[in-house]
Amino acid sequence: DWTMGAYREEAIRKIREQVGDKQVICGLSGGVDSSVAAVLIHEAIGDQLTCVFVDHGLLRLNEAQEVVTMFRDHYNIPLIHADESDLFLGELEGVSDPEQKRKTIGRLFIDVFQKYAGEIEGAEFLAQGTLYPDVIESVSFSGGPSVTIKSHHNVGGLPEKMGLKLVEPLRELFKDEVRALGHELGLPASFIGRHPFPGPGLAIRCPGEITREKLDILRKADAVYIDQIRRHGLYDEIWQAFVAILPVRTVGVMGDGRTYDYACALRAVTSVDGMTADYYPFSHDFLGETATRIINEVKGINRVTYDVTSKPPGTIEWE
Ligand code: XMP
Repeated sequence: DWTMGAYREEAIRKIREQVGDKQVICGLSGGVDSSVAAVLIHEAIGDQLTCVFVDHGLLRLNEAQEVVTMFRDHYNIPLIHADESDLFLGELEGVSDPEQKRKTIGRLFIDVFQKYAGEIEGAEFLAQGTLYPDVIESVSFSGGPSVTIKSHHNVGGLPEKMGLKLVEPLRELFKDEVRALGHELGLPASFIGRHPFPGPGLAIRCPGEITREKLDILRKADAVYIDQIRRHGLYDEIWQAFVAILPVRTVGVMGDGRTYDYACALRAVTSVDGMTADYYPFSHDFLGETATRIINEVKGINRVTYDVTSKPPGTIEWE
């Protein structure tokens, strides 16, 4: 696409002009926006960029490894993988209120990010994948305004607190343009087309108390569900799809025995911007096949339900 090619050249020129020979830190979430920003900035200033990927232990199956492999091994971008899952999961122990979960994760995220960023010598800039809609603040969700480290984690003032100047090369773009730019920069289509994933991650897909056991079960069930959706060629028709593990055990039968395991809910919605959403009308065959696969393949789940709530009155996430 010639327009994106031109945009890319111009953006690179501007980044070089703004940053000079100084160091830049970029918080990488694994999402499309911060990824495109990171790759673009790396193309402009190379190893003057260091990415910090905060792993809160609330990511999907294999997600952390995929991010590390792509950015460190494939793109050769200096990347700090801050594996702080023990810290986050420890502090979240016993926390069941959704807003308390968000606050706890947001606060720790800032602490951790600051700690790792502080180790990067001479950093003067913080890069963020802020988009035009974030600038005009058109997107909002149950936890506050969207995207960028500060709002992704519902906390503000980070760059000011750290005394860093902002680099925001995507500020003029809409989501579909960011995807086009990502494509232009060689990011894989499967990555560019990924469903949005919330900053607090699986914490808000595990209503009630979060335990490692529940997270492990949830990750496996979610992976089977997404695999089903991909196999049926439905992934790109859906805005977001995920599993929530419910805080309830139910009785089931398996072979000669009785089981007493967790119930889960499948969620899939279509949407334009996340502000309103319709539940996705899967066929009964798809739902039945998916339920069977999850129960057979995921130890710890013996009941699968499908959430048919649209937004409003429901939200997309369960918390
Ligand atoms: P809801 O559940 O409010 O979600 O209908 C709308 C969109 O926002 C995402 N979401 C979040 N994203 N931090 C985020 O970065 C959050 O705390 C958060 N809560 C919801 C949700 O995944 C959906 O895309």
